[in-house]
Amino acid sequence: MPLLVGWLLRHSVVMCLLLHSLVLMTFCFHHAATSGCKSCYCSDIEGGGKSVRCSKLQLKEIPQDLPNDTRRIYLDYNELTTVPANAFAGLPLLVEVDLSHNELIQLEPGAFRGLGPSLQLLDVSSNKLVNFNLEAFEGLHARANLTNNPWHCDCDLQMAMLHVDLEPASLAGIVCQTSDPKDIGVNGVAFLLAPDVDLCVGMKKTTDVAMLVVMFGWFTMVISYLVCYVRSNTEDARRHLEYLKSLPGRPRSEESSTISTVV
Ligand SMILES: *[C@@H]1O[C@H](CO)[C@@H](O)[C@H](O)[C@H]1NC(C)=O
Ligand SMILES: *[C@@H]1O[C@H](CO)[C@@H](O)[C@H](O)[C@H]1NC(C)=O
Repeated sequence: MPLLVGWLLRHSVVMCLLLHSLVLMTFCFHHAATSGCKSCYCSDIEGGGKSVRCSKLQLKEIPQDLPNDTRRIYLDYNELTTVPANAFAGLPLLVEVDLSHNELIQLEPGAFRGLGPSLQLLDVSSNKLVNFNLEAFEGLHARANLTNNPWHCDCDLQMAMLHVDLEPASLAGIVCQTSDPKDIGVNGVAFLLAPDVDLCVGMKKTTDVAMLVVMFGWFTMVISYLVCYVRSNTEDARRHLEYLKSLPGRPRSEESSTISTVV
């Protein structure tokens, strides 16, 4: 027994140091976890900010608690299916977001909210995007890589392009896999860059018919109003004439006297 106490006493300094480093290590790991760099690899960028690499981690969701000075984030080759609203809120310095080679079928409205002023490069290539959601891209001025998605080209998509603020070069990446109308010949084509393609033809026809109906209705209303107006006026005029006729001779002589003065 005294042997053990002696041994402990002799090694107490070492034990203490060991314990100390253990505590320090736990603290370090804990710190890493809270700063969002547990699963991803974070590194400092020259000139400030961080680069966060989360590639090929089978992620199904975008990690939260990323360092707020993240400038580049690589989420490529994961299993993300959607980008929820405000996914990158709290990362006001983001310059580049790589979401390529995932399973993205949609980008929710407001997915990139708050990144408007900073974001320069957005890669959503090689995903499963079918419809272009204007509300997801709202406020972005970035260059976007939209290639290698099964885009469905229709009037909605064509109209959305009038309001989107992405760098024009990005639009070359929208190559149609399907289209509506089906037989307009844009499949396999970057139709936004092809002149004279109008996917809103069908829409315009319906609008034209609607216009015609409205105009016809309006025209009918005007005509019936005119008819009524004229009819009630002739009635009034007739009554007025009858009234004049019913008056005794004096107005007639007055009339003739005014005529004679005019003559
Ligand atoms: C990040 O968070 C820290 C601490 O909350 C804050 O002091 C700093 O200004 C933030 N940086 C940015 C770029 O928002
Ligand atoms: C866009 O993404 C595709 C496929 O991921 C890639 O091959 C291409 O180089 C990218 N284009 C640009 C301009 O970054």
